Amino acid sequence: MNAHDSERLSGMLGSLGYTPVDDRDLADLILFNTCSIREKADSKLIAHLGDAKRLKREDPTKVVGVGGCWAQSLKNELFESFPWVDVAFGPGQIHRLAEFLKSDSITAQGFFDFEALSSELPAARERPYQAWLQISQGCNCVCSYCIVPSTRGREVSRDPHSIIGEAEALTADGVREVTLLGQNVNSYGRDLPASRRIGFSEILRRLDALPGLDRLRYTSPHPKDMRADVLQAHIDLPSLCEHIHLPLQAGSSRILKSMRRTYDRERYLDRVEAIRESVPDCSITTDIIVGFPGESERDFEETLEVVDRVGFDAAFAFPFSPRRGTHAATLPRQISREVKSERMGRLVELVNERAAARAERFLGRDLEDLVEGPSRTDPTRLRGRTRHNRAVNFDGLAAPGELTEVAITDTTSHSLDGVEKLLVRAG
Ligand code: 5AD
Ligand code: SF4
Repeated sequence: MNAHDSERLSGMLGSLGYTPVDDRDLADLILFNTCSIREKADSKLIAHLGDAKRLKREDPTKVVGVGGCWAQSLKNELFESFPWVDVAFGPGQIHRLAEFLKSDSITAQGFFDFEALSSELPAARERPYQAWLQISQGCNCVCSYCIVPSTRGREVSRDPHSIIGEAEALTADGVREVTLLGQNVNSYGRDLPASRRIGFSEILRRLDALPGLDRLRYTSPHPKDMRADVLQAHIDLPSLCEHIHLPLQAGSSRILKSMRRTYDRERYLDRVEAIRESVPDCSITTDIIVGFPGESERDFEETLEVVDRVGFDAAFAFPFSPRRGTHAATLPRQISREVKSERMGRLVELVNERAAARAERFLGRDLEDLVEGPSRTDPTRLRGRTRHNRAVNFDGLAAPGELTEVAITDTTSHSLDGVEKLLVRAG
């Protein structure tokens, strides 16, 4: 969501006549779009802000801006701690940056209200054939570790016509792959007025019907809302990719309760089973938090057990990071850095082992691949992504943005290796 906000900031600045420069020293405007989900992002930002202070001292006409969740979590306090910042705004107020830049005001200003939905802005997409499409903003969950509800507000679903309209404009502009974005995508629609209310699976159906949209993805669903209609959509809709990112967070029901995730280990495993019954080949990936307050060795082992049982295709593991104003930050029995790091190591090892085993099912198969450009490790080869969201390095001739077929010849825990079918046929 943060990356998509950055695309919209870039798009808006482009329409105001700004162009990016490689060197921060040359910039008229230095703008940071911030994330606050974990401490690491915060500490990196503080260093960047120090650099901006120096540049502003050398050239006071430079404008320094800070947007996003970190700005929202501090609000006007930000100006006290970092007085060289000219403008700050939360994720729901991106459009107000344009107002500030166009005004003659030189006094620092902050924009932190939640709006029903931040206005639709053109996004400067990283790749012309892939796009994010935001279907809702905010979150009504109360996960005890999470700062998002306080930085992005209550959940607001976007009007279905506006979503379809944006998707049509994207496909007309050459986009082949769309990823629907929301803090909790599959609770989409519940807050819409009855006359316009449609659910998440219906949005999927309407988007699948659009000509030119070859691949449809979404992130992230909440396990509590992963229902039969969404799984049926996976069975029915040709564009809907065989990949579900289903955040687990913890494998111990006791910890899940303390996290206020509203499902337990059994319910999660039951959802995985339902996915595998409907779409046997589906990739399942996840997020896991390690070292949540009170997590005992036994609780952690339960997480390892779930990872082992499910066999995720990939998993992001995060050490618990106490966030400003969250309930979990105040819980007793915080876990030491050493224990978190030791558990992270064990978890990552198991995740990789299971991911490598899962990848073996692709060996010898021909997989549809959306070409993204040259391979990162060997520029004479190409790199793309399968519908299962696996990166593939391959020998081939296709251009970025093309869909092609790749014969898979090798697999690792993170990527696949292959040869474009055309080349195989050509001999
Ligand atoms: N500490 C560690 N990880 C967190 N996440 C969210 N909040 C925290 C936190 N306080 C992780 C969750 C979520 C992902 C986007 O970030 O796993 O799914
Ligand atoms: Fe945060 Fe939980 Fe909402 Fe995800 S569902 S954004 S973890 S509060």
